[in-house]
Amino acid sequence: PVLVVDFGAQYAQLIARRVREASVYSEIVPHTITAEEVAAKNPIGIVLSGGPSSVYEEGAPSLDEGILELGVPTLGICYGFQVMARQLGGEVAHTGLREYGSTETTVRADDGNVLLGGQPEHQVTWMSHGDSVSVAPEGFEVLASTASTPVAAFANDEKKFYGVQWHPEVKHSQFGQRVLENFLHRAAGIAADWNPGNVIAEQIERIREQVGSARVISALSGGVDSAVSTALVQRAVGDQLTAVFVDHGLLRKGEREQVQNDYVAATGVNLVTVDAADTFLDALEGVSDPEQKRKIIGREFIRAFEQAELDVIASAAASGEKVKFLVQGTLYPDVVESGGGTGTANIKSHHNVGGLPEDLQFELVEPLRTLFKDEVRAIGRELGLPEAIVGRQPFPGPGLGIRIVGEVTRDRLALLREADAIAREELSAAGLDGEIWQCPVVLLADVRSVGVQGDGRTYGHPIVLRPVSSEDAMTADWTRLPYDVLARISNRITNEVAEVNRVVLDVTSKPPGTIEWE
Ligand code: XMP
Repeated sequence: PVLVVDFGAQYAQLIARRVREASVYSEIVPHTITAEEVAAKNPIGIVLSGGPSSVYEEGAPSLDEGILELGVPTLGICYGFQVMARQLGGEVAHTGLREYGSTETTVRADDGNVLLGGQPEHQVTWMSHGDSVSVAPEGFEVLASTASTPVAAFANDEKKFYGVQWHPEVKHSQFGQRVLENFLHRAAGIAADWNPGNVIAEQIERIREQVGSARVISALSGGVDSAVSTALVQRAVGDQLTAVFVDHGLLRKGEREQVQNDYVAATGVNLVTVDAADTFLDALEGVSDPEQKRKIIGREFIRAFEQAELDVIASAAASGEKVKFLVQGTLYPDVVESGGGTGTANIKSHHNVGGLPEDLQFELVEPLRTLFKDEVRAIGRELGLPEAIVGRQPFPGPGLGIRIVGEVTRDRLALLREADAIAREELSAAGLDGEIWQCPVVLLADVRSVGVQGDGRTYGHPIVLRPVSSEDAMTADWTRLPYDVLARISNRITNEVAEVNRVVLDVTSKPPGTIEWE
């Protein structure tokens, strides 16, 4: 693999994705990794990520010096560039001058220059740094500069060491992807031969090896991740698999049918549906605190799931087999965030990641553990899953339960379900599904406002539309939806959903807002 060394900013994930977009397999490792550990992974390239620190700060993250002696082609980015400069004998100056955002950069674009050759001499790059490399290490050529940074990129072709002060992984860097590709393909000579498609054969092999002839159950939520992981395992072990779908009463309109009909029709999987709406809604009675709701939903989820496990075990027991494995749709970002050791804060308790009981009797099968969401979608398509499943926008496990601000009741759920269905229908009809990451529809159940409808006064609830654009849900911006689409959604919701007399638009990015309201 290409190893992306994480210096503690969120850029590492983005770099790993961009490397994969260049058809090269990448893995993220913490900056505390030792040279021996790196060597054991047999990397064909190393990328040192940016980070929030100054190399001069007390306790600033450092790199085992042995790593740069392994003879592996290395690209340093931003903080990683400065760490490299310093370790190899260059100088990093604390100039007090900050460069932030789009920056005019002059590059040496002659063809002999492997990293930047063939690019325009003047280009815009995206910078975010306080310190600057003032003197390149011996044996290095300076490849770029800006008004305040004399050494904005360097290269040592013999050692195959490269570095850039800017962030090539960020779209605002005009030729960013080209820099990464040049490093990978031209400088390090790595072939562009990795794609999500060839993950399928490899994973099927692995699953068969892990599972043998044992029985397997899979948690199916209707979302992309669990749909694809279930389909992969089914492809690997066929009838040994039973999928379990929990209807917790917090689903959107048509969702249960989609799983029961469309998914089963597409895959022919054995499906057990657990009817747990009453249990969930009873448990949520009188609760309006968001974290308390999430915990209750998480707990009930596990209970419903244990019940299903018992049923499957009971029926399996008849044939003398025991269920040994549980399939989860865990993705790479989940793994990085929970085990990356870089101290990412837990803002919300996601229902299915840390939520499994300690004494779980199953071994986990997680075939998507190394993949990003767009890669998972590509695999789903290869596996022949219908677009309605593979292209689905994310929907949180706790469902509409965290989209009612206030107590969750059956009446409120019915109302929100209608409003949500209208918004989704209109967004799809306007061809906007591909443009938005998702559009939570939120009911402010404890808020009322005065309106007028027909001849009379109304005193109803507001519905919030929260359309967001995002690459990975870590950050997001509110989507500038066309006014006429917003108008149609608003008209229809206020006309068709009783008790709603106002529709408002959430125009907050993430951060500071999260995508969901709770
Ligand atoms: P936030 O609200 O944290 O959401 O900005 C980020 C993304 O995660 C989804 N989300 C969840 N997904 N279980 C899930 O499976 C959860 O508990 C959960 N909470 C939030 C949210 O819809 C968004 O895509």
